[in-house]
Amino acid sequence: MNDQPILRVLLGVGGGISVYKSVDLVRRLAERGCEVRVVMTQAATAFVTPLTFQAVSGHSVRTDLLDPAAEAGMDHIELARWADRLLIAPATANLMARLAAGIANDLLTTLALASEAQLYLAPAMNQAMWRHPATQANLATLRARGARILGPAEGGQACGDVGPGRMLEPLEIAAALRPRVQQHLAGARVLITAGPTREALDPVRFLGNRSSGRMGYALAEALAELGAEVVLVSGPTALPAPRVAEVIQIESALQMHAVVMERARRCDLFVATAAVADYRPVAPAERKLKKDTEKLKLDLIRNPDILAEVAALHSAPFTVGFAAETDRVLEYAQSKLTNKRLDMIAANHVGSERGGFERPDNALTVLWNGGSHELPLMNKARLARELAALIAERYGARHAAST
Ligand code: CTP
Repeated sequence: MNDQPILRVLLGVGGGISVYKSVDLVRRLAERGCEVRVVMTQAATAFVTPLTFQAVSGHSVRTDLLDPAAEAGMDHIELARWADRLLIAPATANLMARLAAGIANDLLTTLALASEAQLYLAPAMNQAMWRHPATQANLATLRARGARILGPAEGGQACGDVGPGRMLEPLEIAAALRPRVQQHLAGARVLITAGPTREALDPVRFLGNRSSGRMGYALAEALAELGAEVVLVSGPTALPAPRVAEVIQIESALQMHAVVMERARRCDLFVATAAVADYRPVAPAERKLKKDTEKLKLDLIRNPDILAEVAALHSAPFTVGFAAETDRVLEYAQSKLTNKRLDMIAANHVGSERGGFERPDNALTVLWNGGSHELPLMNKARLARELAALIAERYGARHAAST
């Protein structure tokens, strides 16, 4: 049984009467495979005690920025980095105003500034406060910055008014945050390539590339966390072995090709993150080459395209490719998706501020037939989890369509 969370949710609880619903929200999120940590504003503690949230989340609840004991554990910056999603529910008018202005005068608003996680807000307030131009302007600002707004619902309010301002129901909030993806990959067999290949020139030299393997290793682990049985075929990297079912080390493109083709028919998904050398020396020298000429010409020959070959197999697995491009990213990625007959492709903008090879951060544009999704710049571990969830979703959708 896989007990890794599929999503780490930092739940920020503001001070409003709907705080009682947020207690149930923690449960609903946990049911969907999320690990939830709760941070409350001082006002929220007037409605429900931190102890209640501690009991439902299974973790101590933080309320203060300057709490030496809590900071000695997971400090607020670590907490901000830990989160895949920052969900504020209820989001009061006051909280939204502070968030819009970038004010960080308590733990929750400080976390909101320090976290790169996707921000979700579930507003809850009196209908007149919701309609007030100040609140609407703050809402527009937050939306423009990428915050996702969940609700509010319309109806009777605690104060007796009727109108918009009720917090959405916990189930609706939890569903908006994340579709259930876990079951799609439980027991699925994933074959994944990663890292660079080395193409021998002679016994001591090779042609290589700058791939660190980091994205592929992180993705292999993220897929395993979703319940898949993962076999990683890796070129030489400096990374520790990831927590997956099996790791097979290879050096050259031909070796990677042999291992993959031998196993491809027995897998449900094939994910090609490796930076496979497109060419190899026709005949590597048996002895070390000597520098006895002024010019040296290398005779190279094309390597097999592993990904295209797997995708062309009769009853091919669900195939996911990567496209590292320096320009016309979408156009090239789209043509690789079509030409190699892939199910999905993750396009990676290299050689720019958006990340890529040898960087801790990366951003991806993911394409499939009939859809696309942007994964903005974030660290590779988190990006891998987001991509793994997307792969699980698309794989699940194809599975559902074919059964
Ligand atoms: N790939 C592969 N086998 C190869 C070459 C690439 O499996 N011999 C896979 C990579 O793992 C990646 C995708 O194919 O998923 C990259 O596609 P490719 O067209 O090779 O990209 P580039 O090498 O960037 O191609 P080009 O130089 O034509 O842009």
